[in-house]
Amino acid sequence: MLKAYRAAFLDFIADPFYTTESESIRYFPDGLLVIKDGKVEAFGDYEALKDEYINTPITAYPGMLITPGFIDMHVHFPQIEMIASYGEQLLEWLNKYTFPTEGKFNDQNYAQQMAGFFLDELLKNGTTTAVVLATVFPQSVDAFFEESSKRNLRMVAGKVLMDRNAPDYLKDTAKSSYEQSKELIEKWHNNGRSLYAITPRFSVTSTPEQLEAAGKLLAEYPDVYVHTHLSENRAEVDFVKELFPDSKNYLDTYDHAGLVGERSIFAHCIHLSEQEFERLSETKAIIAFCPTSNLFLGSGLFNINQAKSSDYPVKVGLGTDVGGGTSLSMLQTMNEAYKVTQMRQQKLSPLQAFFLATLGGAKALCLEDKIGNFDVGKEADFIVINPRSTSLMALRNPEEVLNTLEELSERLFTLVIMGDDRAIQSTYIMGELAYEKSLIC
Ligand code: GUN
Ligand code: ZN
Repeated sequence: MLKAYRAAFLDFIADPFYTTESESIRYFPDGLLVIKDGKVEAFGDYEALKDEYINTPITAYPGMLITPGFIDMHVHFPQIEMIASYGEQLLEWLNKYTFPTEGKFNDQNYAQQMAGFFLDELLKNGTTTAVVLATVFPQSVDAFFEESSKRNLRMVAGKVLMDRNAPDYLKDTAKSSYEQSKELIEKWHNNGRSLYAITPRFSVTSTPEQLEAAGKLLAEYPDVYVHTHLSENRAEVDFVKELFPDSKNYLDTYDHAGLVGERSIFAHCIHLSEQEFERLSETKAIIAFCPTSNLFLGSGLFNINQAKSSDYPVKVGLGTDVGGGTSLSMLQTMNEAYKVTQMRQQKLSPLQAFFLATLGGAKALCLEDKIGNFDVGKEADFIVINPRSTSLMALRNPEEVLNTLEELSERLFTLVIMGDDRAIQSTYIMGELAYEKSLIC
């Protein structure tokens, strides 16, 4: 059974930080995407493809833009209910708001209810893949993957490891964290579309023994991910120095345990030394840039030019980091990322922002053979974006066909700055409609 979609299409075939924008994109003002068994069967210009698919039912979205689904590189599902908690920076915020909230997730039913809510919010925002922290409770990971499997989503998630500097009700041990994570890997990694991440919260809340145990587990399962935080806040960096007096730097606390590699995701990376950037580059590790969180928690301004340098390039994706982050919308995340670059006298073009949230994220996660663009054979997770979804956006974006790269960039920039969940008309998972915006708002 074939199905096809007709609209304007944009995807990426190369990294616009290192290639010209015109060479890095595919843009069809009138394009066609053909799906078979949940995967891309054909993709291109409507006129060029239409005769071949004359008998295929076509859903047309006039005036809309279809792109691959967004990839959120770092987010905490249990923190959805404590988004917008006032007045603190990282360490105080964790103690005052985050840990008490995460304590509720020892109840699997509660965790499942929240996971379902969280995933439906992601779909509403056009996010089809995310790298997700659960809590220290293994049942919160089961709850998450059960809900994401029901929705057939490609998700990366894992149990948080914490054996110090946390309340007793949230602590595991080096041994129990190893055993529980191992059981969860066996159960969930590559089960359907689920993928597992070994998830030490950060070096503040893990003893060297726990990090070593996590490293041992990674050596046993080298194709799982590692997901943690790195160098977000100055007080945190100082605390890590105290806790690991023999480490060269913060990154070295993970490196020493064998946790730094091409599937290791480090959220934030704001206060890194040059050596740490070089080591991230050398190991092909991944940075999750989380601008709404970095501004909300007053953590600092990420240096994207350093990360995307030619000498020591580091793979970068965009993360919402809810509940430190203030929105699940990747469009709003791009908006704040742009402002962070402005504060640093740098630039993030709208095409670069869309790249980070699609193919850039997929490449960073070594998933570019499965998701991230509309190459034939890829899993058909895509979104329908309405550039005229509010009256102000309709005013800013008159109905006209975009013919040049400049016109396309301008339109995308209005989506980056003004867009949010209201601009997401539909979200498709493996070619099936998973979310559609109701006409009555
Ligand atoms: N560092 C350690 N835990 C957290 C968390 O939950 N949120 C953020 N933003 N940073 C962290
Ligand atoms: Zn985080």
